[in-house]
Amino acid sequence: MSIVYLNGEFLPVERAQISVMDRGFVFGDGVYEVIPVYGGRLFRLEQHLQRLARSLAEIRLLNPLSGEEWRRCLQDLVTRNGDGDQSVYVQITRGVAPRDHAFPKEIKPTVYAASSPLRPQTAEVAEHGVAAISLPDIRWQRCDIKAITLLPNILLRQQAIDQGAVEAILVRDGLVNEGAASNLFIVKGGELITPPKGDYLLPGITRDLVLELAAAHAITYREATITPQDLAGAEEIWLTSSTREILPVTRLDTHAVGNGKPGPLWRRMTSLYQDYKQGVRERGEAPAA
Ligand code: PDD
Repeated sequence: MSIVYLNGEFLPVERAQISVMDRGFVFGDGVYEVIPVYGGRLFRLEQHLQRLARSLAEIRLLNPLSGEEWRRCLQDLVTRNGDGDQSVYVQITRGVAPRDHAFPKEIKPTVYAASSPLRPQTAEVAEHGVAAISLPDIRWQRCDIKAITLLPNILLRQQAIDQGAVEAILVRDGLVNEGAASNLFIVKGGELITPPKGDYLLPGITRDLVLELAAAHAITYREATITPQDLAGAEEIWLTSSTREILPVTRLDTHAVGNGKPGPLWRRMTSLYQDYKQGVRERGEAPAA
């Protein structure tokens, strides 16, 4: 049975209830985080908490818990769910109030955290990679906020699934920014490239770790804009996220990427990433790589 945290209490998921007047339900007025857990340890927790604090500040919501309270609450949740590998979901909404677009004067945020099993990447993915399609980015202008309002992302991802792909890679104003729920890397001329942070992409925690690992292991990389032409001609394409790690894209729209197999730089980076994870499992989070 899965245990969740709701407004200061730990309880079985079946007993967790919120009001139909919650602004998360009515407006999608809230933010969230997804944090992977390896061997019972929250991975890159400080970075996730920092991003959460930033998302909250951007939607003008006071952080309901201190750093220490978050650490204690989430670690407790992980332990109550049996440690091991998990995916922890954290959501904060503005709270319960009669429906009105304006912020209510007196309101208490709803704080929720839950855990689900984290499935490792399959051997099939490592051998064959995955397919992605490119689509126009129909999202809003503040994709840097990890908002729970995800209707465009859902429609885009579903369009990819309907076409036999696993992700939609999003194009806006002639630039490729990220996936519907992942960040984007390409390899071009042997160099690793990812778009710079900005309003049109989420500052991914996995993205940052990939760049840290590249820097620490003398892999040449650059944060630079990527055009659809760069994407179409890329030697490798990767998609990164906390739940899927580093996915090699071997098919884009109707074409094979490179030779149609996961590329050599993906193999190298995935191996560095797995070593880093193993270190966290065994010793806890190391200082920046
Ligand atoms: N999504 N870009 C978007 C739009 C995302 O939704 C995500 C993650 C990322 C990758 O960020 P990170 O490396 O910090 O997970 C980029 C999560 C996993 C989700 O919505 O389930």
